[in-house]
Amino acid sequence: MAEDLNIVSGSKTEKYQSLVPQIKALLEGEPDVIANLANVAAALKEQFGWLWTGFYLVKGEELVLGPFQGPIACTRIKYGRGVCGTSWEQARTLIVPDVEKFPGHIACSSLSKSEIVVPLIRNGVVAGVLDVDSEQLDHFDETDARFLEEITGLLVL
Ligand code: SME
Repeated sequence: MAEDLNIVSGSKTEKYQSLVPQIKALLEGEPDVIANLANVAAALKEQFGWLWTGFYLVKGEELVLGPFQGPIACTRIKYGRGVCGTSWEQARTLIVPDVEKFPGHIACSSLSKSEIVVPLIRNGVVAGVLDVDSEQLDHFDETDARFLEEITGLLVL
């Protein structure tokens, strides 16, 4: 496994196209879930410089904070609450261009302006979510959804 991530400039698509094979290489041969979630959160943060990248994992009736990069965050989110809990409830990716306009948004950091949450679905059940926050409004689109879904699909939970 390469020890350094190759960070590229260019379009969003070019960045993802460079990152996806590197994430595949990072995950290859490593069965530990926490190690892999930690490296994926770090790789996304390093390539894109977003405010916060990380995982929440379903534990009983709640999402519990998992590996992440960025400011400290709330540790528990109930089913159906916030963007993360809603993504869990609806089992689909949510793109929030302006967090202040999302009813029930949970503000872990006042710097966060827009957000994307991708559920980790295994055997038809949501096992966790990937949450990404940006300091810029309207920062995420269908390209992010497509590639982040591809990346989360690589994770064995
Ligand atoms: N904003 C999220 C909470 C998690 S933090 O952004 C890291 C939400 O509304 O679910």
